[in-house]
Amino acid sequence: MRDEFLDPNIRADDESAVSAVLAGGAAGGEADADSEVGLRPQALDEFVGQRELKEHLTIVLEAARKREQSVDHLLFAGPPGLGKTTLAGIVAVEMGVQLHITSGPALERAGDLAAILTKLEEGDVLFIDEIHRLSRSVEEILYPAMEDFQLDIVVGKGPAASSIRLTMPPFTLVGATTRTGMITGPLRDRFGLVARLDYYDTDELRMIVERAAGILDVDIDTDGAQQIARRSRGTPRIANRLLRRVRDFAEVRADGSITSTVAAEGLALFGVDDRGLDKVDRAILSNLCGQFGGGPVGLSTLAISIGEQPETVEDVYEPFLITQGMIARTPRGRVALAAAYEHVGLEVPPSRAPENAATLFDG
Ligand SMILES: Nc1ncnc2c1ncn2[C@@H]1O[C@H](COP(=O)(O)OP(=O)(O)O)[C@@H](O)[C@H]1O
Ligand SMILES: [Mg+2]
Repeated sequence: MRDEFLDPNIRADDESAVSAVLAGGAAGGEADADSEVGLRPQALDEFVGQRELKEHLTIVLEAARKREQSVDHLLFAGPPGLGKTTLAGIVAVEMGVQLHITSGPALERAGDLAAILTKLEEGDVLFIDEIHRLSRSVEEILYPAMEDFQLDIVVGKGPAASSIRLTMPPFTLVGATTRTGMITGPLRDRFGLVARLDYYDTDELRMIVERAAGILDVDIDTDGAQQIARRSRGTPRIANRLLRRVRDFAEVRADGSITSTVAAEGLALFGVDDRGLDKVDRAILSNLCGQFGGGPVGLSTLAISIGEQPETVEDVYEPFLITQGMIARTPRGRVALAAAYEHVGLEVPPSRAPENAATLFDG
């Protein structure tokens, strides 16, 4: 089992779970997860968007190369599907080193992490996905490893136990998290660069769709790519997934080429509406506006009402709905804003009219 974590071709379990969730019921999580690997940009030049982050990263990598040292530890934060895992791979490729992949939940005991650390070679990249889910005991092994490239190993048990300190070659830890707020201060402080990934704009997503279409050998015009981009919720992973669904649709119901009309019809068929919301997003909005009278309602109550895990709602669905001004987090729970009522075709109650919305945020 442990060796699997070290094989860069094996994806962390938790990522496929998230991919399946993002499929939004639109079939084919498995095959999509496989092809995702082929669509991942390998070099920083191929990575679309996130201009500022790319510039910072370019400088950090270049400086490390000049000094012939390992790259500083990097932390990438942001919602799922924006390119955190991809960037970890790019760092390894650009530096010409091995990439080792694991995740917070996979590292149950301190020994799990120690086993991986002892196999790292000079300059290697260790990618820990969902690093906010590391247990305290594992995190404590990580501190001296990150700071001084020292590894404390406990041998024996009980009163006879003693600890040996091993020196390990310098390496680069790349952490990814969907929740910066859940990273402990001491861990966060040990990263040389903390970078936040933002949602992509439509033009960037169109480029991502066109690039993926090229790799998948799909015939698509600019308007078709634009149509998919507009409905991708600012997220490259969703853009690629929608492209595959529309490709299926185009092959079965049209002549195989993706135009704007074909894309719109295909996406409508798979339940993706014109703002890119899927069945789950719409269920969140309609329960919040209907059943819960617009809120405030607690996250877990809302999640249970649509049959999802609270973490999934919080990490995967909610951030985009918030950026769209449809829902808001308040001290007393989630509330629906005017745009939510409009989107599900309900009348906006006076208390949610934009001019009154400010009162919602009073504790
Ligand atoms: N900036 C980008 N340019 C092109 N493709 C991207 C970009 N960011 C992400 N992708 C695509 O989206 C998919 C999901 O990215 P990933 O790195 O797995 O996201 P995360 O780890 O943040 O959840 C990748 O397979 C890749 O093809
Ligand atoms: Mg990832």
